[in-house]
Amino acid sequence: MSSGQRILGFESSCDETGVALVEVAGDAPPRLLAQALHSQISMHQAYGGVVPELASRDHVRRVLPLAREVLSQARLSLRDVDLIAYTQGPGLAGALLVGAGVAVSLAAALDVPTLPIHHLEGHLLSPFLSIDPPEFPFVALLVSGGHTQLMRVDDVGSYEMLGETIDDAAGEAFDKSAKLLGLPYPGGPHLARMAEFGNPEAFALPRPLLHSGRPDFSFAGLKTAVLTQVKKIGDSPCEQTKADLAASTQAAIVEVLVKKSLLALKATGLKRLVVAGGVGANARLREQLNAACEKRSVRVHYPELSLCTDNGAMIAMAAALRVQRGLTPPGEGGGFAVRPRWELGAA
Ligand code: KG4
Ligand code: ZN
Repeated sequence: MSSGQRILGFESSCDETGVALVEVAGDAPPRLLAQALHSQISMHQAYGGVVPELASRDHVRRVLPLAREVLSQARLSLRDVDLIAYTQGPGLAGALLVGAGVAVSLAAALDVPTLPIHHLEGHLLSPFLSIDPPEFPFVALLVSGGHTQLMRVDDVGSYEMLGETIDDAAGEAFDKSAKLLGLPYPGGPHLARMAEFGNPEAFALPRPLLHSGRPDFSFAGLKTAVLTQVKKIGDSPCEQTKADLAASTQAAIVEVLVKKSLLALKATGLKRLVVAGGVGANARLREQLNAACEKRSVRVHYPELSLCTDNGAMIAMAAALRVQRGLTPPGEGGGFAVRPRWELGAA
């Protein structure tokens, strides 16, 4: 018998159903016991983006089998679960309700508490699942499909927003540009692959707000510039031209992300950077951040590649780190709510 607490975590905010089991005992780093994930990407691809209603229905289909799989991997049963965590927001309301509904019902049946988790906190703390977790405080660059933010993180639950995008997120810039290039959804990884063979200097694309002097972002203009170039190169450009445009787009996004991260590090005087969210998987971003940070003696931490995009492990881990610090909200009295729009740090 273990003396620790076992936390079952559910993620269902968008197009991935994730379930994971994490164990926390005293001050020791929480341990991931098992995880399972189902991505809906192939289902949404035919529509060129996430269809919310289809997403919710698929979460309904997947969530319990995934929970069973996680428990069986860990050779445990529901009776061994001490707390149930779930993504409360932000995300698609219907999709969130599936994870929240299952989590709260299971908790009621098992008579254990629930812990609602902010999706971005999950991303932010996902590097704690790696073998070389960061120490607090650090600057976090959160780059996902819906968010692009720089934050000062002093501890779990202590987040200060330094800057964010005023329009599109970095992941959206990747996805929308990729769509213009005829690539499937979600475009980020496809565009990155195509960019490997392209010349990043072939097209002069804008770097919005690069010189604003503040850690803020704007990517909507970049998408318009890519559209203009796509029209110029015509209906049947050669593969090399497309690769050049992909590489130039990626270079523009990455240059802005690197410059703004350095600005945030300088403004806070911190020497540690954590990169999280789907775009954190981008190889060029990692390469350029590593080079820039090495020069300035800044340590950069990333989640494992497979944990950059949405997953249940980051939700269970965020819950475990909260439990260790006693940051658990009072009971919810049986009801539950989701928060499709929710600022990290807001009460
Ligand atoms: O964090 P995430 O899984 O979902 C949200 O919470 O939004 O991020 C998904 C985003 C998508 O926009 C996807 O295109 C992007 O991350 N992405 C990438 C790469 N892998 C995922 N963007 C650029 N390069 C990649 N390798
Ligand atoms: Zn996410």
